[in-house]
Amino acid sequence: MDFQLSEEHIAVRDAARDFAQNVLKPGVIDRDEKQQFPTEEIKQLGELGFMGMMVDPKYGGGGMDTVSYVLAMEEISKIDASTSVVMSVNNSLVCWGIEKYGTEEQKQKYLRPLATGEKIGAFCLSEPEAGSDATSQRTTAIDKGDHYLLNGTKNWITNGGSASYYIVIAQTDIDKKHKGINAFIVEKDWEGFTVGAKENKMGIRASDTHTLMFTDVKVPKENRIGEDGFGFSFAMKVLSGGRIGIAAQALGIASGAMEFAIAYSKEREAFGKPINQHQAIAFKLADMATTVEASRLLCLKAAWMKDAGLNFDKESAMAKVFASQTAMDVATEAVQVHGGYGFVKEYHVERLMRDAKITQIYEGTTEVQKIVISRSVLK
Ligand code: CAA
Repeated sequence: MDFQLSEEHIAVRDAARDFAQNVLKPGVIDRDEKQQFPTEEIKQLGELGFMGMMVDPKYGGGGMDTVSYVLAMEEISKIDASTSVVMSVNNSLVCWGIEKYGTEEQKQKYLRPLATGEKIGAFCLSEPEAGSDATSQRTTAIDKGDHYLLNGTKNWITNGGSASYYIVIAQTDIDKKHKGINAFIVEKDWEGFTVGAKENKMGIRASDTHTLMFTDVKVPKENRIGEDGFGFSFAMKVLSGGRIGIAAQALGIASGAMEFAIAYSKEREAFGKPINQHQAIAFKLADMATTVEASRLLCLKAAWMKDAGLNFDKESAMAKVFASQTAMDVATEAVQVHGGYGFVKEYHVERLMRDAKITQIYEGTTEVQKIVISRSVLK
């Protein structure tokens, strides 16, 4: 077993680290405060090949593997989890979904601009009454011959306002329950598509989360992804990959908070010595380092399994459960290490603590991941 990263992996990680420290860090506090979408930063991430990292270069992607994606997500998330969620949704839920299951025509038309970062994508599954219970879709897409007529409301949509292309999950045949669900690629400027108010969130405040409304939106037949009735399986498969991205985001929040805590513990003195010379602080740092490393190994293993073409549903769920709990624990302890300074914005850890919470909620709550894991081990 080889735990060594390849030269290519190290180069990707270092490029992401440089970008996070030099481009993202200077404005991150301000963007969070003002809920300002990182438009210019996302454009630059596209130029680095990070908006479609795993997409084949023939569609404008970076041609990298999922291990590279985890390494990049960790580095970006250490500083700016708002930017990393935009990146993660675009990479895992949208680009990967279209590349793996879309038609050649869909790839040429939609994947190319998404993979280069010229356009941003969103994934629309959640509804006011269908969050964890994802089979209970109320949004309908009625077959009208050459098109579907889409009606309904989607909630909590990351990139809801900034995206140009949306993968929308809808019920096409209610009697068939989850087997009567389909996924469609929908364009923002189509008639009947309305972007609702932006949510004012606790964390990842610079990312834009919206409610979306669809009223008699005409979706061409060729925009359905996969065979008729494939939509629920599609959503589950895509989310399974997405959970690796969110696990890596949680890992980055945790390792970022730990790095801030270590740096502060070297500078700050109390009772005549640096605070890290007191076991009360040193043991916190030891616990952080241990759980961060365990999270990293779970993320990399799930990524490696995906790259190897193995089923990674259980492993991505495990990585997300563990890394998101680690993000909460480590960020909270990092604030504690900073004392009063941790409670103000300049020291970054209060933002990481707020950002950590969503990793236990989106792309499937911790409870949903435990359904996936327990069903797998009880098979
Ligand atoms: N791959 C392929 N098919 C799968 C699958 C997978 N990973 N998981 C389930 N399915 C299939 C099953 O095989 C089954 O099909 P058959 O009946 O043909 O066998 C069908 O889907 C239904 O499966 P279940 O009976 O297991 O479904 P369930 O109702 O019990 O739900 C669940 C299981 C795990 C709770 C699922 O509903 C789920 O993952 N819910 C959470 C949804 C979610 O993650 N939402 C997040 C929103 S997206 C988001 O947050 C994006 C963002 O903007 C950041």
